[in-house]
Amino acid sequence: MATLHDKVPAGLDRKETEVYRRLDPNKLPRHIAIIMDGNGRWAKRRHMPRAAGHRAGVTAVRSTVETAARIHIPALTLYAFSEENWKRRPPTEVSFLMRLLSRYLKAEVPTLNKNNIRLDYIGRQHELPEDVQERMQWAHEATAQNSGMVLTLALNYSARSELVDAFRSMVNSASQNGGLEHLRIDEDTVSRHLYTRHLPDPDLVVRTSGEMRLSNFLLWQLAYAEIYVTPTLWPDFRGVHLLEGIAEYQKRERRYGGLNHAHDAPDGLTVGKS
Ligand code: FPP
Repeated sequence: MATLHDKVPAGLDRKETEVYRRLDPNKLPRHIAIIMDGNGRWAKRRHMPRAAGHRAGVTAVRSTVETAARIHIPALTLYAFSEENWKRRPPTEVSFLMRLLSRYLKAEVPTLNKNNIRLDYIGRQHELPEDVQERMQWAHEATAQNSGMVLTLALNYSARSELVDAFRSMVNSASQNGGLEHLRIDEDTVSRHLYTRHLPDPDLVVRTSGEMRLSNFLLWQLAYAEIYVTPTLWPDFRGVHLLEGIAEYQKRERRYGGLNHAHDAPDGLTVGKS
């Protein structure tokens, strides 16, 4: 006979198991997007250089990715490096982040394979340093045969650039397929030209360190996502925090612009006092 215990996926620790037991496994988000924020503040609080915060951020990435895969989330997307980061941070920090990413990719491939995770990327990859691009390509190929969770790293990513690229791509494909006069654009067409065309839109977006912004992340795709902001700084974030975010998500009622079935009976329409 199946017991509650049997339903907890293997590999979760005690705290994760406790939170997981409160979840409805049939209503897990299909795609979770995370804005990882607070590495600098984490380091500052400890009187350490910003680099130490980023390094600690890798541990948080590892824990979050493994937990998401263990509970069978189909897609996880991490905002690792925005186009703005590239332009607005000192070159020393940017090159540190590039080295950290390269090292992460090399070290993590065995763990990704062990967890059946396929690695992918969104963003203007061609603008990244060549050695980083080569490492990215290698890690992508080394995990391409996996059939479990898709882990997408947003690197040199900007949602506005993604939309610009999508519109350019629509125009290009129209001009190669009978000419611009045949160009028809609707929501489906736009979605099919985004970097995320192979992914469902995120159901849940998590932002760490308490900031209430989307920071140019997946603006089109997050149209109906539930937003979960936690004060936890990214380097302190672990799988258990992800599960807490999912628990919060499951308490929300998603309406997609429609009515709340329990309380908004159409015949109860009133304007002011009646
Ligand atoms: C935000 O903290 C974090 C980043 C800009 C970089 C994210 C990088 C990592 C988590 C580590 C490496 C990632 C991978 C995928 C290996 P912040 O520096 O903006 O923090 P602050 O707002 O407190 O200054």
